[in-house]
Amino acid sequence: MAGSVLQEKVAIAPDDGASPRHVAIIMDGNGRWAKARGLPRLEGHRRGVESLRRAVRTAIELKIAYLTVYSFSAENWTRPFEEVQSLMGLLHLFIRNDLSELKANNVRIRVIGARDGLPSDIVGLLEEAERVTKNNTGLVLVVAFNYGGRQEIAAAARALAEKVARGELAANQIDAEAFGAALYTSDIPDPDLVIRTSGEKRISNFLLWQAAYAEFVFLDVLWPDFSKLDFIAALDEYAQRDRRYGGVETQHAIKTAS
Ligand code: FPP
Repeated sequence: MAGSVLQEKVAIAPDDGASPRHVAIIMDGNGRWAKARGLPRLEGHRRGVESLRRAVRTAIELKIAYLTVYSFSAENWTRPFEEVQSLMGLLHLFIRNDLSELKANNVRIRVIGARDGLPSDIVGLLEEAERVTKNNTGLVLVVAFNYGGRQEIAAAARALAEKVARGELAANQIDAEAFGAALYTSDIPDPDLVIRTSGEKRISNFLLWQAAYAEFVFLDVLWPDFSKLDFIAALDEYAQRDRRYGGVETQHAIKTAS
């Protein structure tokens, strides 16, 4: 398919502007994948983890600098208790089973989202994953866990307001740059491309601030079926987009962070 040409381009020149520096994925459709096969939802999530593994390998191969995955949203707590427990268990397994391979592949793990409210063993694992990979220099895998965009924005506003109240910051110093610096993603460039699987076309409280100028690609494939070719097809579609950031000239990416 057409993607193979892009793949070659990405492998040779990952910084040529036609390739996204940061890809963010809303991994949707695990439940429907399971339901279509008469399987429990947990099986869909298990296969979702396999698909995540595949996506990380593809991102490494295609030399993508940042990959953010929406693993558990602030709203996912409203799911049945057993499903929440299963998702926590899968995160546990993912970190336990995959951390050494990720480390060996020079992947740096970053976790964004609220830590309070999470079980302490999960917080410990997330911190361990960040700690043991912090000196890696390859793909940055950003795991959005217990993450909500509105909650993140509210927390940033609160932190800035507290600084103003303490006299450390003047209210008129709060601009888009200062605000961005108060988010979880202060040292992560904005996503260039957001992919959502499963055919749904919404943002679902994901990277609301950061995705201001992202390109969106919606795929009809359910997350457990998301393949390397699907990933490449999304990158191919991105490469054909005309990014103007509100101006008239095409620019391929705004370099926002190092
Ligand atoms: C959406 O599918 C997916 C999620 C709520 C979680 C994504 C989780 C994984 C890919 C596996 C877990 C990975 C880690 C690292 C925890 P859905 O259940 O909303 O699907 P549906 O819309 O078809 O019901």
